[in-house]
Amino acid sequence: MADILTTPRITILDDPARAAAEEISALLDETPSAVLGLATGGTMIPVYRRIAEGCAASRMSLARTTTFNLDEYVGLPPRHRQSYHHFMTEHLVNQSDMNPARMHLPDGAAPDPDAEAARYEAMIARQGPIDLQLLGIGANGHIGFNEPGSPGDSRTRVVELTARTRRDNARYFAPGEPVPTHAITMGIATILAARRIVLLATGSGKAQAIASLLEGVPRSDCPASFLLRHRQVHLLLDPAAASLIRR
Ligand code: F6R
Repeated sequence: MADILTTPRITILDDPARAAAEEISALLDETPSAVLGLATGGTMIPVYRRIAEGCAASRMSLARTTTFNLDEYVGLPPRHRQSYHHFMTEHLVNQSDMNPARMHLPDGAAPDPDAEAARYEAMIARQGPIDLQLLGIGANGHIGFNEPGSPGDSRTRVVELTARTRRDNARYFAPGEPVPTHAITMGIATILAARRIVLLATGSGKAQAIASLLEGVPRSDCPASFLLRHRQVHLLLDPAAASLIRR
């Protein structure tokens, strides 16, 4: 059967993080117990800062929200400074009224990572659907840690990180500290099961990935292009990330 494809909504603005925080705030005004899918990485830091400001000013509350993060490094326990669990604690839980018991990430230190991936997928299925999935994008077009070559029907699983992603992410590790080789990530089908998706990209380093995503056909070499199969995707881009869009 032919793919039914849609064109994502695209908004280009100087402060996409603020727009993302506002979308989340509007959802939580309507549905305080909404289920959020969250991402980590540098692009998300200003989003979580805005959300923290909103909570501090009592303009928004995460108290009743359940969250599922996209991914976690295999081998890093939650307390490890470079774990995504630690990132979320530092940037969101400690800065807001979020209930840490409702924050979920795969356990990077689980003795059986494949079983952990299956457990995480089942938990999302049980507590979902995710109302709003926040995404960043890798310079190589990855979403979550679905690297080029990831199938569109993939679910939460253990993946090997590409040399490029490990190089890109080395900036978050101490000099000389090894970057993990594997991660547990939601799959592309897991991500596409969210009711709506907000993808944020900033900086010229993401311009090529955004242009490839919009090329028109979902392709495994640009995993983000599978988003064309979802009806409610909003791309929030700064002018640099949007600079190679052809139309
Ligand atoms: C992180 C994640 C990744 C990042 C992407 C962009 O949870 O899923 O897909 O969103 O690697 O990372 P930054 O924002 O650091 O460029």
